Amino acid sequence: MTSRTVEPPGAEPDYGSLVRDDRVHRTLYTEPSVFADEMERIFGRTWVYLGHESEIPEPHDFKLTNLGTRPVILSRDEEGTARAFFNRCSHRGVTVCNEARGNAPRFVCSYHGWTYSSAGGLLNVPFPSGMGDSFDPAEWGLRHLDRVESYRGFVFGVLSAEAPTLAEHLGAAAALIDEWVDRAPDGEIVVRHGVRRVAARANWKLYLDGAADGLHPFATHRSFVEMSARHRDGLFISQFRRNPDETPMYSRVLGGGHQYLDQRPGMGGRVWDATRPAPGTEASVADLEQRYGPETTAEILERTTVAGMNVFVFPNLSLVDNSIGVVQPREVNRTEVLWHVTSLAGAEPQSLPLRLRIGEDFPNFGDPDDIENWERAQRGLELVPDVEWLHTGRGDDGEEGAHYGVTNEAPMRAYQREWLRLMQHRDGNTP
Ligand code: FES
Ligand SMILES: [Fe+2]
Repeated sequence: MTSRTVEPPGAEPDYGSLVRDDRVHRTLYTEPSVFADEMERIFGRTWVYLGHESEIPEPHDFKLTNLGTRPVILSRDEEGTARAFFNRCSHRGVTVCNEARGNAPRFVCSYHGWTYSSAGGLLNVPFPSGMGDSFDPAEWGLRHLDRVESYRGFVFGVLSAEAPTLAEHLGAAAALIDEWVDRAPDGEIVVRHGVRRVAARANWKLYLDGAADGLHPFATHRSFVEMSARHRDGLFISQFRRNPDETPMYSRVLGGGHQYLDQRPGMGGRVWDATRPAPGTEASVADLEQRYGPETTAEILERTTVAGMNVFVFPNLSLVDNSIGVVQPREVNRTEVLWHVTSLAGAEPQSLPLRLRIGEDFPNFGDPDDIENWERAQRGLELVPDVEWLHTGRGDDGEEGAHYGVTNEAPMRAYQREWLRLMQHRDGNTP
């Protein structure tokens, strides 16, 4: 494989010395050169979540997305195939698409009007007689990602012809995606309810550190935990109030840097019974019971409420409650998380408002808490170079497949091992 970019100047960093069994170095969160390497060696090499099939259902539908910091167009071509190519004009580099989503059979560059199809091929250049005989339009289409594959509607892309298959990359996470999607009567989820964009002045890995962390809720989300405990003590998030390791909740190391936290065993059987009241709950339940009877309504409510599963697929896809979270690194100390609320294909339409209101519950109360602590962490790490290490050593080390108490930091150490594996392979070495 040829080198795609110029490496930043300077000696190769010794990443192995920065990630240890019980600590990692602060520069992983603060150094622009580390961030630049991550964009090449992680987002430029491993499978990255791009979007969901249901966001681009029709031919010529598109949405803008990213492969790390690289701008990407996810498009459905005329034949109905999902395609992903860089949003970068082949002529002089201009972003050819500047709408977040839509339907367009052509992408026309605003600079000199080069025109591309929804499959990314170059269709026209202006005044073509001036181009000369040696110009071959087939050579100048928008640059495609090397491979695009989808799993249960989740579309991923990778910038490496040598990467393992998507199924190999997902590994044990695939069965959990199945479980999450199979809550839908028709076995599909739908992503068409807008996006909530959360911005933090913090490194993107602060999100990953918390993806299966059952230690932080009692402190970070204390007011939410206390408030929820008044509704159902010991259920929903209030189960984090006492020592969470003494509850039946567990976390798992899934391999490949993927992480899992299952809250359901701590919710006392039926998740609906642990669900906090959302605006309109009583009216929705009454309406459903009148239409479908109490037994069917109980089933409907169980699939309408939160999933109680936190699945994280390294490096950027998070399934939390009923939402898809996409971790979007912007700069070494700037990150966005894009939350897409989902609905269930085949679900009773009367259950949708309730599902959306329940989907807003944790984000309204929990996101501001998390962001505040990520930003405080970023400030401490940037402003105090005298203290070099962060402690990550709580609990036993993570064996794949093992179940842990949810305060164990094994899932965090596991994603850091995958991070290190990728970061230690420079271009030219197959990871
Ligand atoms: S940069 Fe796109 S047409 Fe010139
Ligand atoms: Fe949190």
